[in-house]
Amino acid sequence: KVVVLDFGGQYNQLIARRIRDLGVYSELLPHHVSAEELRKLAPKGIVFSGGPNSVYDSKAPKCDPSIFELGIPILGICYGMQLIAAHFGAKVDRAEKREYGKAEMEVVSDSVLYRDLDRFQTVWMSHTDVVVTPPAGFQVDARTHSAPVAAMSDPARNIYAVQFHPEVRHTVYGNDMISHFLYDVCQCSGNWSMETFIEDAVSEIRQRVGKEKVLCALSGGVDSSVVAALIHRAIGDQLTCMFVDHGFLRKGEAESVVKTFGEHFQMNLIKIDARERFLQKLKGVTDPEQKRKIIGNEFIRVFEEESAKLGDHRFLGQGTLYTDIIESGTDTAHTIKSHHNVGGLPEDMKMELIEPLNTLFKDEVRRVGEELGLPAEIVWRQPFPGPGLAIRVIGEVTEHKLNIVRESDAILREEIKKAGLDREIWQYFTTLPDFRSVGVMGDARTYAYTVGIRAVTSIDGMTADWARIPYEVLERISTRIVNEVEDVNRVVYDITSKPPSTIEWE
Ligand code: XMP
Repeated sequence: KVVVLDFGGQYNQLIARRIRDLGVYSELLPHHVSAEELRKLAPKGIVFSGGPNSVYDSKAPKCDPSIFELGIPILGICYGMQLIAAHFGAKVDRAEKREYGKAEMEVVSDSVLYRDLDRFQTVWMSHTDVVVTPPAGFQVDARTHSAPVAAMSDPARNIYAVQFHPEVRHTVYGNDMISHFLYDVCQCSGNWSMETFIEDAVSEIRQRVGKEKVLCALSGGVDSSVVAALIHRAIGDQLTCMFVDHGFLRKGEAESVVKTFGEHFQMNLIKIDARERFLQKLKGVTDPEQKRKIIGNEFIRVFEEESAKLGDHRFLGQGTLYTDIIESGTDTAHTIKSHHNVGGLPEDMKMELIEPLNTLFKDEVRRVGEELGLPAEIVWRQPFPGPGLAIRVIGEVTEHKLNIVRESDAILREEIKKAGLDREIWQYFTTLPDFRSVGVMGDARTYAYTVGIRAVTSIDGMTADWARIPYEVLERISTRIVNEVEDVNRVVYDITSKPPSTIEWE
């Protein structure tokens, strides 16, 4: 594997990602990891990432200087290059102005990093400091108009450094350079894939868990499902999954989880029917924030009560992704953070965490899920909020209103799928505003609920645009909802983006 040391740059996650895409396992470690620890990990190469600091800042992140003595090939990127330059005694200057964006670069050496690539090429720069003359023993590999040392190396010591960002797509030959580093400098074998990721994770989990027991809270979402399947592959019956049905799930969701995990994977699956209890707690509550808080708290209570009944489980399996831990590095692996996907477990819970997906991105997790044989309907599931349908019923939540969103949502999902739009639209669901209006059906007056259709396109849910569902599809959905769902006589389409709206209505 190749280790990326994290100095805080905005593209750091991408570096590890590019390396994995090139067939070499890679993970990000905090910059302060000791040379001794690295020696034990025995990576084939080390990448120093970019970072926002200047190497002369008093707070600038440094690395253990003994890392340079390990004899492991090093590639420094941006801040990483300046760190290398400063370590070997070269001066790093503050440029007159920050260089940001595409730059034309000329390769001026025969360094292996640029083998078979064009002499003139476009790279992506984002820096304020520059190395003016390379340290002793280093050669200049490339230059740009504003960076006299855009790249440098000391091939004898296997140290390479670039001022630009090879991990960014705008650096036209970035992938080739990373590939040269991995294969020509580090001599990686390049046989890493999702299968090997799974094999490694499985043996690591086995080793760590031994004969102990693991508990996993299963929500039916992508991350918790994949983590459950992975841990199950490693330790089989030593894993128990707990699935809490709070009554706010979509139609068929609870059954699908039980079928997939209990029957297909034959996992120890405990399904807790807490529907009554949640509904009771929400009686008379109309404020959205209060609803969310009550559901979150109740979830923790149920989880605590039920896990206490199960007896001793030393470990808790969690579907934490790379994006969830980016700031905390690997230091926090044994404390339970409040913002976990189980809904914020209490601080004093003494279980140790197992988070085998914490080096992966969402799309990589989906690939692991497919590899593990999870059905497509789970692997490609759209995002679904923890509080579920309770925040799609506006105002007080009742069984009757839940039934209306559940049934109308099922019709919407079915029609979107039939129209082949299910992978294109990021999220789609129905909501139930808290009012009735007048209609006419079969010559009779009706006074019934309105269902709202919400469908958005988005990359990460932070911003979103309303999806342009074709009129014919909308018409089918509307007709079916009014005809098939009791107590509904009107359907409206939400045509606001986020911002100014949010995706969910509460
Ligand atoms: P909003 O409504 O804030 O939603 O635009 C953005 C995305 O987050 C989902 N969402 C949640 N997910 N727990 C979750 O796990 C929650 O409490 C929650 N609230 C909203 C929402 O479905 C959308 O994808």
